[in-house]
Amino acid sequence: MSRPKITVVGAGNVGATAAHWAAARELADIVLVDVVEGMPQGKALDLMQARPIFGFNVDIVGANDYEPTKDSDIVIITAGIARKPGMSREDLINTNKNIVAAVTREAVAKSPNAILLVVSNPLDAMCYVAYKVSGFPKERVIGMAGILDTARFRCFIAMELNVAVEEIQAMVLGGHGDEMVPVVSATNVSGVPLTDFLPPEKIRALVERTQKGGGEIVALLKTGSAFYAPAAAVVQMAEAILKDQKRLVPASAYLEGEYGLHDLFFGVPVILGARGIEKILTLKLTPEEEEMLKKSAAAVARTREVLNM
Ligand code: NAI
Ligand code: 2OP
Repeated sequence: MSRPKITVVGAGNVGATAAHWAAARELADIVLVDVVEGMPQGKALDLMQARPIFGFNVDIVGANDYEPTKDSDIVIITAGIARKPGMSREDLINTNKNIVAAVTREAVAKSPNAILLVVSNPLDAMCYVAYKVSGFPKERVIGMAGILDTARFRCFIAMELNVAVEEIQAMVLGGHGDEMVPVVSATNVSGVPLTDFLPPEKIRALVERTQKGGGEIVALLKTGSAFYAPAAAVVQMAEAILKDQKRLVPASAYLEGEYGLHDLFFGVPVILGARGIEKILTLKLTPEEEEMLKKSAAAVARTREVLNM
């Protein structure tokens, strides 16, 4: 039996790191595609040479065309430009719209049965582009943001409480923008509500740091945006799909009435398995969280309007 295949389009910071972690976990053979000549080939060869040291047995190839991507099970789209200090994710829209449309067209022509995992920003809008261009069913076009944003929230809570990150259960919903919604009512430490551990003002500060978590890293890096945690997040999604794990995670999904939203990609809790999004769950939220979610949806809808498609 041949191994599954993951194509990663965009062999930059997120793409190459995702390839690295997916390979190290032996999830699949990997094809790295980028427009820069030699770069995906060089990174792929470098990763191949790490195999004898860490002992992972998958093949990794780099390419500037889509021939080697044929019949991929998963296509991860990270192509595009990333934020620089002072830029919002929305500032990337026109450049990345054209890039995401072009790479989606090429990738799905070679892999008509793949599941698309979109990473490029502005995330929810780029999912919409990939969905429209691919013509794929909505279950097979999924955006990565919620796992990352939730990981940031979990990390900040764990640092504040000085407990292991694994003990923190949380869920960040909504668009992948500064209006995202860390759902405090669904956040607990080993089953005990977060509100039992921290006063409201402390929780508010953690929520705000999470909402601005991407910008905090951009301000530190100065030349680009976060990539270790984003790559880890998209690899977790690929793993859930390839191993049919039925994981309950937040992801950007195409909504047709769920949460009162239509024709919009938006971060909601989903079950991820072999068929992609197998179910969208409706969480019971507090009135304050519902209000935040509405604001976030309005921001995502405004960005989608700019796409004009
Ligand atoms: P990067 O600049 O390191 O890599 C992007 C790569 O895309 C470059 O190597 C570039 O040559 C390539 N590329 C550009 N046009 C292409 C095309 N037509 N075909 C193939 N490759 C092409 O950027 P990085 O840090 O990897 O970020 C990638 C994208 O992911 C950005 O849009 C960024 O904003 C987004 N991002 C989204 C996150 C999320 O939570 N959804 C988290 C982190 C990044
Ligand atoms: C992040 O949240 C820039 O979307 C990217 O780090």
